[in-house]
Amino acid sequence: MNDSPKTFSPQIIDLFKRYVIGNYTRYPVCLVRGEGSHVWDAEGNRYLDFFPGWGCDLLGHCPPRIVAAVRDQVGKLIHVPNTWYNEAQGLLAQALSECSGIQGQCFFCNSGTEAVEAAIKLARLNGKPGRYKIVTMINSFHGRTLGALSATGQPKYHQGLEPLLAGFSYVPFGDLEAAAKAVDGETCAILVEPIQGEGGINLPPDGYLQGLRELADKHKLLLIFDEVQSGMGRTGRWFAHQHWHVEPDAVTLAKALAGGVACGALIAKPQAAEKLKPGTHAATFGGNPLACRAALAVIETIEADGLLARAEQIGARFRDRFEALRPRCPWIHEIRVKGAMIGVELSVDGAPLVNQCLERRLLINCTHGTVLRLLPALTLTDSQLDEGCDILDGVLLSYKT
Ligand SMILES: Cc1ncc(COP(=O)(O)O)c(C=O)c1O
Repeated sequence: MNDSPKTFSPQIIDLFKRYVIGNYTRYPVCLVRGEGSHVWDAEGNRYLDFFPGWGCDLLGHCPPRIVAAVRDQVGKLIHVPNTWYNEAQGLLAQALSECSGIQGQCFFCNSGTEAVEAAIKLARLNGKPGRYKIVTMINSFHGRTLGALSATGQPKYHQGLEPLLAGFSYVPFGDLEAAAKAVDGETCAILVEPIQGEGGINLPPDGYLQGLRELADKHKLLLIFDEVQSGMGRTGRWFAHQHWHVEPDAVTLAKALAGGVACGALIAKPQAAEKLKPGTHAATFGGNPLACRAALAVIETIEADGLLARAEQIGARFRDRFEALRPRCPWIHEIRVKGAMIGVELSVDGAPLVNQCLERRLLINCTHGTVLRLLPALTLTDSQLDEGCDILDGVLLSYKT
């Protein structure tokens, strides 16, 4: 495919109708190019993107260091399986271990759901003999493969796919007492997103993550944080749990890890990780040099450009904008922000607002029916932020119930 597409959106959409399985709801737009916080469609229209890559494009579209690293690597070695060593995987594991602060060891895969599958196996292998149950949270989201889906505490995603993997009990996020009650002699782990993402950008109440740590220690459970959405600097720390100074036994990562290139990881403390021996788990593409070079470039960019601090600034500016709007906009129920992880809970359905923003060439997301979710790039400029917020203000103020 060359730079100037010869087909336009309707023709491309027709190809999808005929040849692509219809398991996604798609907007009638075909994107062809991206740069920073902008994308262009096949007709040449430009959109401002406050939700780049569903959280994967943490540094915006086509960030220069990642493009350069991938270009360099692609001509040297694209993929080698894990029967061989490759330098990029080793360096990435070292960098993640250091960022995570748990001196962990890494297993690499290609997506969030795979990282969670690895975490479920880690938990069960560490629970042997006899312990296999995992406590997870209501409104959590851990992925679509059957293990991660079983861990996900939302019945709407389970429908039609039962029987699920056995052993998960779901308790309200933030409720320590309920978590304690769910633990029994067969429990081996607690799996929790430090900040629920898909569930509506739900922040943990004070003391909650620490309380889960104590519960896990008391019953010798693994405490696993799913940071697929909140990790890699998104919230202003390398990992969201670092805001609350609680150490997990393992962390799952994906989305932003390689800046839009498919890459997932499980980081686990060595004493837990040692149970994942040859033959227990694998991923053919996991840890390939291309993805690992991209991920190393993400870490280098965040460090070189001071983007952890920028995440905090972005969050503060968005918060100010929404707080300023709130008195004039009765549908804003709650504003929840941690760095560049932003949720605005409305008292009305959010889907029509997403469509109205799209008409005005602003890309946002709505999750859980009523929560506008923004996961902007850490390279978003103040003027882009204000431009998008002006559009959002207009859309929110003109909302008709
Ligand atoms: C916290 C969390 N875990 C796991 C996943 C699944 O990731 P993937 O879609 O890459 O499989 C997601 C996806 O949104 C997520 O937000």
